[in-house]
Amino acid sequence: MANLTALVSFFVLFFFTLTSASEISSSNASSATRKYTHVCDPQRFADQGLDMSDFHFCDKLLRYEIRAKDLIDRMTLAEKMNQMGDNSTGVFRLGLPPYEWWSEILHGVATTGFGTKFTKEVPGATSFPNVILTAATFNESLWKLIGQVSSTEARAMYNLGTAGLTFWSPNINVVRDPRWGRTLETPGEDPFVIGTYSINFVRGLQDIEGFVHVRNPNSRPLKIGGCCKHYTAYDIDKWHDIDRHSFDAKVTERDMVETFNRPFEMCIREGDVVSVMCSFNNVNGIPTCSDPKLLGETIRGEWGLNGYITSDCCSMDVIVHRQKWLNDSNEDVIAQSLNAGLDLECGWYFQRYGENATMNGRIKERDIDRALKNNYVVLMRLGFFDGIPSLESLGKKDICSDEHIELAADAARQGIVMLKNDNQTLPLSSSTVKNIAVVGPNGNVTDTMIGNYAGIPCKYTSPKDGFSKYGNVIFVKSCGDGTPCTKTDDFPAAVEAANNADATIIVAGLDLGFEREEFDRDDLKLPGQQTDLINQVSNAAKGRPVILVVMSGGCIDISFAKNNPKIQSILWVGYPGEEGGRAIADVVFGNHNPSGKLPVTWYTNDYIEKLPMNSMSLRPVPEFGYPGRTYKFFKGEALYPFGYGLSYTEFQYSMVSSGKALHLKLGRLQHCRDLAYEDGAARPPCPAVVVDDINCGRMLEFEVDVLVKNVGKMDGSEAVIVYSKPPEGIMETHIKQVIGFQRVFLKAGESKTLNFTFNGCKSLMLVDKTAYKVLPSGKHMIVVGDEELFLPVQVNIQSNHK
Ligand SMILES: *[C@@H]1O[C@H](CO)[C@@H](O)[C@H](O)[C@H]1NC(C)=O
Ligand SMILES: *[C@@H]1O[C@H](CO)[C@@H](O)[C@H](O)[C@H]1NC(C)=O
Ligand SMILES: *[C@@H]1O[C@H](CO)[C@@H](O)[C@H](O)[C@H]1NC(C)=O
Ligand SMILES: *[C@@H]1O[C@H](CO)[C@@H](O)[C@H](O)[C@H]1NC(C)=O
Ligand SMILES: *[C@@H]1O[C@H](CO)[C@@H](O)[C@H](O)[C@H]1NC(C)=O
Ligand SMILES: *[C@@H]1O[C@H](CO)[C@@H](O)[C@H](O)[C@H]1NC(C)=O
Ligand SMILES: *[C@@H]1O[C@H](CO)[C@@H](O)[C@H](O)[C@H]1NC(C)=O
Repeated sequence: MANLTALVSFFVLFFFTLTSASEISSSNASSATRKYTHVCDPQRFADQGLDMSDFHFCDKLLRYEIRAKDLIDRMTLAEKMNQMGDNSTGVFRLGLPPYEWWSEILHGVATTGFGTKFTKEVPGATSFPNVILTAATFNESLWKLIGQVSSTEARAMYNLGTAGLTFWSPNINVVRDPRWGRTLETPGEDPFVIGTYSINFVRGLQDIEGFVHVRNPNSRPLKIGGCCKHYTAYDIDKWHDIDRHSFDAKVTERDMVETFNRPFEMCIREGDVVSVMCSFNNVNGIPTCSDPKLLGETIRGEWGLNGYITSDCCSMDVIVHRQKWLNDSNEDVIAQSLNAGLDLECGWYFQRYGENATMNGRIKERDIDRALKNNYVVLMRLGFFDGIPSLESLGKKDICSDEHIELAADAARQGIVMLKNDNQTLPLSSSTVKNIAVVGPNGNVTDTMIGNYAGIPCKYTSPKDGFSKYGNVIFVKSCGDGTPCTKTDDFPAAVEAANNADATIIVAGLDLGFEREEFDRDDLKLPGQQTDLINQVSNAAKGRPVILVVMSGGCIDISFAKNNPKIQSILWVGYPGEEGGRAIADVVFGNHNPSGKLPVTWYTNDYIEKLPMNSMSLRPVPEFGYPGRTYKFFKGEALYPFGYGLSYTEFQYSMVSSGKALHLKLGRLQHCRDLAYEDGAARPPCPAVVVDDINCGRMLEFEVDVLVKNVGKMDGSEAVIVYSKPPEGIMETHIKQVIGFQRVFLKAGESKTLNFTFNGCKSLMLVDKTAYKVLPSGKHMIVVGDEELFLPVQVNIQSNHK
């Protein structure tokens, strides 16, 4: 069997030899097929006048760490430094080719980064919805599948010489503030949901079937490499005069453990991601890429990263020139960062100043060797040196296949969130709705739908084109200048179209002109005259269906539409990817029952007037009157809460389980830990115990079984979200926190029991003021969905002290 595979790959290689003459290098990505798919090919060495058997790093019988050491030990100091940047030069005399580390795959293979190029041979790749919409599906198997399909396309592009193997995605920063310009890139505001997304997506990118549980993680082969970024507390880009390059995030250790770091911890521990990127900002006065506590101690020490830590692109330059941290010289900054635990730089500082920094004693050469070893072991696991036979047949046929394009459409359908549907106006029926007015600035958009960190898609289906499959479409862009909507000359034409149509679809919202990297929002309103357009058009429809479709990453205060009875239905569609228009029309005409749920709280615009974007605290700050952030800490009225989303059918939940009790008897050396309680609240004799001090095994597990019934008339999926609420009276806790979710498909009339297994240590835990994770005594509540069901879980901790 193995011989057969080898034979097949021999022919594939032979074919490449005939069709092209380029090297194994992504910096040469623009040339079509490459001559060799991996470094350790004897013929490749022979072509360079070298004998591969002289180079032990090509000896497949040795462990990767040993091979990497052999490679590094053969390099001069100058040669080593040249491999420390994303544009690594290779070492010709050793048969080591150049390699560009920077590629991206946030929602499909992207053009961002120098490692990937689209060419005549590979003109496009499947562009899935932006992550914020995919998150709204709450569908773990979809998240993984998108990772798998994207990495299949990426590996095929690698085989064809147009992409690298290391991809710096996903972006798993928490959306702390609704103004953040990069909300569209992320899975939302809940650390557990974000972490769960990252585990699934990264495993989809990296895992090769049959090699998921290899004993030595540093020998586990990888399909492509993922990267969880931007570590950490990074969620301001450019807001007034604050910018990400100089911003110093003041963060408490409690918020770090509970919120900012939690997705990274999950991504590393449970996703086994091979890379983490440190962010541009400082945290508490120290640039993240130069902070030994954040990098070496936490990522590698505490969480056990099997891989490499990279800087963001030009971070070293930013630290020297923008942050002017400690007035450090170029040499000082790379030394601080290397010593903190950085392994690779996106940029050129090590290449330019590394040798000098080592010669004048700022850097120990051994630390460079350590970094390079981390990098090369990853490249070995990726098959850069030896190839991975099972992946070598991937090629052009595996990119933009019908199946992949269909998945892009399905992901968008699954994510779309229905926010309003008065009198069950939706779904429309094509037997009564023949003439459809599609109006608004996003009604015929294409590249708006793929947002940022995108590639070149296989093709597009715009909203206008999507609706044309269901009826006769009259399209009026309405705003001459698109989303800014200051040119209103076409408003009368839009009004006229609505006046004559059987139904009107208004496609409004934002685009990258309003929210993007390096650009946060000033407010949560619709831009320009969009509100006026929507009101005029809905008046003209004279009671016939008016559907508002909101395209955006972040939330928009659409209170006016929520409260306007002439707008019967509202859909939020994120930036829905290359097939977005088809997905929207399929939902509107009932070919798909909407089931997405908001992965972020939708606030009204007055929220942002109450607190500045640079206040990092998640909890309310009473002395300044700042409200809390995210559903976990915001006590006010949201426009639409986290987890909100309607369906064409109706689901009823009931609890199969009854109340639970967890008993914990502490040993002689286990101590009770005090908590702060509100005035008048009862203080249990043993308020809490530190989670790390107890055995979190089966004893603390409990099951929650939820019976979900589709009691409506239409088949559909439901995302069941389960929260825990801490016992009453404890000061400054979260209101509730997501502890699990499952998505289930139910035919009309069908019901299913969903089984959830939780562990008290993880699911009832809270982070106390001094950043300990503790399990509190008392009556916790398990809450299913929007407060529909409650299940008490009593935690009794009995001290063994007199
Ligand atoms: C990488 O380095 C090579 C060789 O020094 C150079 O030709 C190329 O332009 C560089 N690529 C990038 C993206 O900087
Ligand atoms: C950096 O240099 C400036 C100008 O020389 C000086 O005012 C400042 O105090 C220095 N900062 C540090 C941290 O040394
Ligand atoms: C080498 O580093 C030293 C100290 O950091 C610095 O003063 C010097 O200018 C550097 N030399 C070069 C050639 O960059
Ligand atoms: C629903 O339809 C009824 C009857 O057509 C109408 O009276 C009522 O105002 C509608 N409700 C809403 C919220 O549009
Ligand atoms: C719709 O968008 C496509 C692609 O950008 C463009 O070619 C076409 O002219 C647009 N149609 C209208 C009616 O604006
Ligand atoms: C989750 O996504 C997968 C992959 O697209 C799909 O097959 C499945 O039906 C979805 N699950 C539900 C319950 O909608
Ligand atoms: C799920 O829970 C139901 C009800 O408690 C039970 O009948 C069923 O066996 C459970 N299924 C699994 C897979 O544990």
